[in-house]
Amino acid sequence: MEKLKIGFIGCGGIAFDKHFPGMSTQRDRIDMYAFCDIIPERAEEARAKYGCEGAKVFTDYHDLLACPEIYAVHVLTPNVKHCQISCDAMEAGKHVICEKPMAATYEDALKMYDTHIRTGKLLTIGYQYRHFDAHKAMKEYVDTGALGEIYYAEATAWRRRGIPTWGVFTNKAEQGGGPLIDMATHALDLTLWMMNNYEVASVTGCTFDKIGPVATVDEMGNDFGNWDPEKYELEDSAFGFVRMKNGALINIRCSWAMNLIPNEGMVRLAGTKGGIDETGMQVTANHVQNNRAVDLKIKTRSMFPRMMNTIDRNPQKDPNQMEAEIWVNALLGEGELFVTPEQALTVTKILDAIYKSAASGETIYF
Ligand SMILES: NC(=O)c1ccc[n+]([C@@H]2O[C@H](COP(=O)([O-])OP(=O)(O)OC[C@H]3O[C@@H](n4cnc5c(N)ncnc54)[C@H](O)[C@@H]3O)[C@@H](O)[C@H]2O)c1
Repeated sequence: MEKLKIGFIGCGGIAFDKHFPGMSTQRDRIDMYAFCDIIPERAEEARAKYGCEGAKVFTDYHDLLACPEIYAVHVLTPNVKHCQISCDAMEAGKHVICEKPMAATYEDALKMYDTHIRTGKLLTIGYQYRHFDAHKAMKEYVDTGALGEIYYAEATAWRRRGIPTWGVFTNKAEQGGGPLIDMATHALDLTLWMMNNYEVASVTGCTFDKIGPVATVDEMGNDFGNWDPEKYELEDSAFGFVRMKNGALINIRCSWAMNLIPNEGMVRLAGTKGGIDETGMQVTANHVQNNRAVDLKIKTRSMFPRMMNTIDRNPQKDPNQMEAEIWVNALLGEGELFVTPEQALTVTKILDAIYKSAASGETIYF
């Protein structure tokens, strides 16, 4: 069987941390064939470390897309470029896996979705947190129906001091948003997926920029070092109140910098019969047994499996490898996409509405 030729657009952090190692586990089925970055040394480094024999390097993604032999591309650039590059790729006949968030705005995400429908090309988004063992365990438990009707959820992505200082993360023109579309996008994706509920009725949002644009690292501290307050253009925390059509409420909370200690995981769900939440490594369900409220600790192998390699006798596959495997299966027609474009579109629709509501002070109704 001839191997599928894959192209990578954007050779920065997420490319080297996730997509290159993940896809390199699939080399019996794919060739890591083309690498593009506007910074040529990054594309060269990627080719040198991961490229197949004869792998190509580009600085203009249009040249990569012009190669008829390339079957699919990974879009790994800053957020604002996701839409144009993904649409151009699908128009050029390539299947697309794009990094999260799907796009910086709902309008852009919708363009991507429409292009996917019109061209018939596959489109999926890199929400690899679904493959973490803790989240899979939660999903399996929720799917048993043990929670009853789920009517309240919290989607949390919390850093007390974690303003990203690399790349263009604090640049509005390139990223489009702060912690809401950077981190809460994962927490919301997990929450909707676990609830299996994508029907949104209304969104009320509030954002703050109380630390990023005014403070310095010396005054405030930051896990990722110094940032330039003069160039900090985004929210540093955001909150959303999402009513679903069935009456359920999702409470979204996220921060890159806020004076609250992060002591929670990403998802909590409460239903009429029971609930479930995670605190980092631990997943705990609660339900009623013999007229008493009891907790049930759910064994997960680890939130971050690579940290547990030595003591895990039955290690789960690396989430990056799982994402790559599912993607290649779908490319070969041997499986379904795990993250559908419809699901990712709804995540972006909600996050975009939080920004719109925060700006206008109004609730957004759908
Ligand atoms: N799934 C996750 O958990 C996760 C984690 C981190 C980042 N991300 C996402 O990945 C994307 C990239 O983030 P990153 O951390 O890798 O940023 P980065 O700045 O490290 O890398 C982005 C790369 O894209 C390149 N680039 C920019 N415009 C380009 C263009 N037109 N053509 C080709 N290359 C171009 C840049 O030169 C850079 O090398 C973002 O959308 C981010 O939200 C996802």
